[in-house]
Order: sequence, then C-alpha cells, then structure tokens
Amino acid sequence: MAFVHFFLLLLSCFGVDAVVFTLQNRCDYTVWPGIQASGGQPQLMQGGLELKPLQSRNLTAPKGWSGRFWGRSGCRFNVYGEGTCTTGDCGIGLYCNGAGGEPPASVAEFTLDSPVDFYDVSLLDGFNMPISIFPYDDSGVCPTVGCDTDLNQHCPTNLVVRGDRGEIVACKSACTAFQTPEYCCTGPFQNPNRCKPTRYSQIFKRACPSSYTYAFDDPLTTVTCRDSDYMIIFC
Ligand SMILES: *[C@@H]1O[C@H](CO)[C@@H](O)[C@H](O)[C@H]1NC(C)=O
Repeated sequence: MAFVHFFLLLLSCFGVDAVVFTLQNRCDYTVWPGIQASGGQPQLMQGGLELKPLQSRNLTAPKGWSGRFWGRSGCRFNVYGEGTCTTGDCGIGLYCNGAGGEPPASVAEFTLDSPVDFYDVSLLDGFNMPISIFPYDDSGVCPTVGCDTDLNQHCPTNLVVRGDRGEIVACKSACTAFQTPEYCCTGPFQNPNRCKPTRYSQIFKRACPSSYTYAFDDPLTTVTCRDSDYMIIFC
C-alpha cells in the first residue's frame, strides 16, 4: 500500500496528474497576470506574477483545479510586491492570494475535470486587454476562445475608463457601469427570456464573438476539452 502511495506521489511529481497553463504576454507593455483559484483550490504563483512583453511562464495546476486568470496593467510594485495597478488591481499587491481583480477586466475562466474541462473568456466584468485561451490540442477538437480585439478602441463613451494621462485603459460592461437589473440580468431579468443582448453587449459581441458578453450569452461561448494543457495569451 505504501508502495502504491509512493508511486502515485511520483506520478504527481512528474506532472502526469496535472495541467500546465502557459501564460504568454504578446502585448507591447508589461502585464501582471492575476490568478484567483475557486474556493478551496490552491492559489497558483500566490495569485500573481509579472510578464514582460513576449515573456511566458508555465504554471502547473493540480487535476480538478478551477479558477480565473486576468491581466493587470499599469502596475507599480515595490520589491516587497506592494503597490497598485491601473486596471485589474486586486487590492493587496502583486500576489493576489485569493483576491479577485477590480472590474473592468477581461477574464479567462476554467473548471477542469468536471468531468471534462470547461473554459471561457468572460467580458461580464468589462474589458481591459485582449485575452485568449488556446488549448494544446493535436486533435483539433478543442476550440480556441477569447477576445483578441482591443475593445478599448471600440468602447462606447459612457463605458470608458481613463488612466492618468487621459488614455483609455479599460471599457466597463453595461452591468458594471449602470448597475441595473436589465443590464445585469438580475431581479425580474434573471431569466434568459427576459434578459437579452443590449446595444452595449452587442458592441462587445461584434468585437469578440467567442467571449461571454452578458449573463445569458450563447452557452456555446463556454467550451470543453479533455486532458489538455492550455495557453493563455494576453493581446
Ligand atoms: C510549457 O508547457 C507546454 C505544454 O505542456 C510545453 O509544450 C512547453 O514545452 C513548456 N515550456 C517550458 C519552457 O517548459
């Protein structure tokens, strides 16, 4: 029995029972990815890291992991990892350790091994930078999803978030901006027959067809794969 346990431990050490997430920054600016594991799951990389342009990092998650990834921009952290970001800030510095990002932020979401892997890119919390999910998949059956368009360039004026120099740094979702049941699909609108795409969510949908743009968006924007590793690309 102890021998079997030793063997399983050995397997998990060699990553057989794990998933690799490759985070890659293709933006021409530094991105500080934030990672928030769902309740009870281990936080990867203490929930945060820095990626310079063209840099990538492989992270390993245990089988059955679930959680979300988002990019933070315009961060200023000291050597202790203390500081803040212009977008996607988690409020406690470089290492988010379970804290989520402040909207607006484009988010890549995963629920692994349940019993297949579910994943999507969500703009329900708005958009701050392009983000896409590419499964490492030789069979060609696992879809790529995400948003590689810079929605900040297409953001309706009343949803725009500006940085210190007046530049557009993010685009709010209509739900975040207006906080009404109609845009958030809450209260009497908590129903796919009542809550329809709005002219705001349609702008997001046109720019990013394979992303979630409102609460009852096309369920096909959540896709599945099996036993794959994943690349998450910023920009
Ligand atoms: C990162 O993980 C991918 C997928 O498993 C693999 O193909 C690649 O070689 C890894 N890169 C490094 C630097 O380990």
